Amino acid sequence: MTDRYAVVWARTGAAPRKMGQLVATGREMRFSYVPEFLEQTDTAGLSLLLPPSLWRGRPFVHASTEILPLLPRLMALIPGRNANNIQRRLYTSLLAKRSNVPAPGFETEWELLMLTGHNGIGHIDVFPDDRAALDAYADTGEPKKRIGSRSEFWRMLKEGTDQDFNQEALDIMRLIGPTPSVGGQIPKLLVSIPDKPGWDGSLAEPGTRKIDGVPYLDVVMKVEDPQYRGLAALEALCLDVHNELGFEVPRHWRATIDGLSVLAVERFDRTPAGTPVAMESFFSVYATGQQQVRTMTDAEVEGVGLMLLKLAEIAPIDAAAARLEVYRRFLMALLTGNGDLHLENLAFLGGPEKVRVAPVFDPAPMRAWDRHDLVSALPFYIDEKQPLGYSVARVGESFGLSRAAAADILQALLKATGNYSERVLALKDVPEVNRKNLASRVKSLLARLIKGVGP
Ligand SMILES: Nc1ncnc2c1ncn2[C@@H]1O[C@H](COP(=O)(O)OP(=O)(O)OP(=O)(O)O)[C@@H](O)[C@H]1O
Ligand SMILES: [Mg+2]
Repeated sequence: MTDRYAVVWARTGAAPRKMGQLVATGREMRFSYVPEFLEQTDTAGLSLLLPPSLWRGRPFVHASTEILPLLPRLMALIPGRNANNIQRRLYTSLLAKRSNVPAPGFETEWELLMLTGHNGIGHIDVFPDDRAALDAYADTGEPKKRIGSRSEFWRMLKEGTDQDFNQEALDIMRLIGPTPSVGGQIPKLLVSIPDKPGWDGSLAEPGTRKIDGVPYLDVVMKVEDPQYRGLAALEALCLDVHNELGFEVPRHWRATIDGLSVLAVERFDRTPAGTPVAMESFFSVYATGQQQVRTMTDAEVEGVGLMLLKLAEIAPIDAAAARLEVYRRFLMALLTGNGDLHLENLAFLGGPEKVRVAPVFDPAPMRAWDRHDLVSALPFYIDEKQPLGYSVARVGESFGLSRAAAADILQALLKATGNYSERVLALKDVPEVNRKNLASRVKSLLARLIKGVGP
């Protein structure tokens, strides 16, 4: 393979800025900041671990592997490798039409990055060259399109995309934009919806601010996969439960469009005016710092607490607040039967002046499905000689809490989520078997937790 080049730009604040250059050889990928970017102080860099002020002109080298062919931070900009991912299906079929079809693996991922690597989640945009960047930023587009519920778009989502692609598919790609997902289970789109209390399912291109006088806002829209019937209702319940307990939770809406159940969640990586806010997953921070971290479960819960402390040495993050927040999220994941709180479901938001843990996202209680019935996606140390609550409180020590303080937090959350199982059982949109599974799994875990923290 010949060397490949690309440029990285960033869009926060006033105007887009060039951040750096990428060179890929197939075996490794190198990134370096351009001198102009090093002179500014208002735009966050490529990763919290590569702050421009410290990294300066040195290249960051990533050794490509099968799982992580590209820099971890950039993997988040391409559609996940999962058969259900509609963006991936659309874009790979577009690549297959080229005269020299890219080989599977690195070449395909690289070409996908060139196609989908901009205007996604966060503030980082990748383009083949500066001209493409300037063109993309200059494109104010045609009037934003609104799509009706019976559109081609929904037909494609429902029936799959095996047909030959044409202009219609290109229009759909423009509408659905780049992917917001890393290997997610369910199809997701970045779109805008009317900013109103109720949602009738109408959609427009991401970035749309107004149609016929009605304000629009950017959302991540998750389309329920028939394999996981009830997921949208369960995820919405968990967003509500977190919200009621004072966690920062984005607004969300549910609708049924042409028989598909969808959940729209307001994007927190955009300001109300639509300006991108830097966002980086915990996974990206881990995998940038340690080559042996390959997947989103390659860390222990205790290690996450220690990582936050270390990160505060180079990033402007309030370590105590971040550690308390993440420990509370970990407890909530146990108490709601989430089982899926891994390094891609936690993120950092903001920068460069201040970084914090992003609001709650993807709190879906996956233990409702047998094949996802895990107490915790990330392992933690369990002392088999003690009740479970003891070990869970001890995890708090890695988050800067005494065991007693952690036990108090656990006890308070146990109390506050006391009626969760009943709320699950009352959800009519969820198949009974999944409601019952989730409620009984949560109840039996609660019984084990309560013992460890005393009355
Ligand atoms: N409200 C939001 N604002 C900004 N970014 C978001 C928001 N919700 C999700 N994201 C981003 O989109 C990615 C995918 O979303 P999410 O985690 O909800 O779905 P998923 O992991 O693909 O779904 P599942 O775990 O159900 O398969 C997240 O990792 C995060 O980067
Ligand atoms: Mg997720």
